[in-house]
Amino acid sequence: MKAIRGATTVGADSAAEIKESVKELLTEIKTQNALNLEEVVCVLFSNTSDLHSFYPAKAAREAGFFTAPLFSALEPEIDGALSKCIRVMVLTESEKPAKHVYLRGAAVLRRDLTNIINIALDGPAGSGKSTISKLIAEKLNILCLDTGAMYRACALKCVNLGVSVTDEEAVKIVISDINLTVKHENGVQHTYLDGKDVSEDIRRPEISMLASTVSAWECVRTKMVQLQREIAMRTSCILDGRDIGTNVLPDAPYKFFLTASPEVRAKRRAAENLQKGFNTPYEYVLAEVIKRDKQDASRSIAPLKQAKDAILIDSSEMTVNQVVDLILNKIQEKI
Ligand code: DC
Repeated sequence: MKAIRGATTVGADSAAEIKESVKELLTEIKTQNALNLEEVVCVLFSNTSDLHSFYPAKAAREAGFFTAPLFSALEPEIDGALSKCIRVMVLTESEKPAKHVYLRGAAVLRRDLTNIINIALDGPAGSGKSTISKLIAEKLNILCLDTGAMYRACALKCVNLGVSVTDEEAVKIVISDINLTVKHENGVQHTYLDGKDVSEDIRRPEISMLASTVSAWECVRTKMVQLQREIAMRTSCILDGRDIGTNVLPDAPYKFFLTASPEVRAKRRAAENLQKGFNTPYEYVLAEVIKRDKQDASRSIAPLKQAKDAILIDSSEMTVNQVVDLILNKIQEKI
């Protein structure tokens, strides 16, 4: 038995659009595979939860699949997944090699069929990663994923529940049922914790050190890395963090390690905090930056480290635009 896979996206959540897309997909699968409908064992559909107007399986009857058993299922909501998407699996007794069919942008489900690019941007606290990655994402029209926000949300959840981030067993329980999602609205990342937008809360200065501590636990890293990989698999994106090039996406084709002197980083972070309404003295920020880097770099799991194949950029004496141009040029050289 062979499984022929396929997927398509739908213009709008309407019966007419769903029928049209499914018919087009099945017709293409039939043609490309010279499918004998008598050999079809069954057809399985799944669709994303933003489609409600019509069962994709019903459209299969209209596309000529008169006798095969049909089945439709709803997919869970997954961060970074394509929206309005229908997947199909046609099981057939044919022995011919299967030709999978991906239409209307659904090819991004298959990395081997797409041009998805992932850029890893790692570096210590305050090195400018988030500013730079937002600008790069804008220029390349790709997503920007701030992975630190996820660890910050884990720390915030512990704080909200009165759980100490140093207590591994208690953290494990908190993380086991954390509902953490990242959504991009108009290109801006919003972090949702148990349904609430916590994008501002997680930026509170006291969360930084707690995020660093909580991120050292295996239970936390396993869950966050899985989420990050799921997003990166489906979407072209630049991920900023500490372990993207070494651990999350070791095969990423573009890797950068951005750094600057602790003094410069502390100065930038203090100014950033002030802009957000937090008045944190420079000396305090400097001490914290040094302590956090040491903690992030010395933990046993996926520590802050430059990947061997990452390009090192020291931005101490560089402007934001100079760093952006340098990274874009390096990417261009490799394309
Ligand atoms: O980038 P940031 O300051 O928002 O990150 C907060 C903490 O999260 C950082 O001190 C260490 C942790 N972190 C991590 O361990 N791995 C990442 N990929 C990103 C952040």
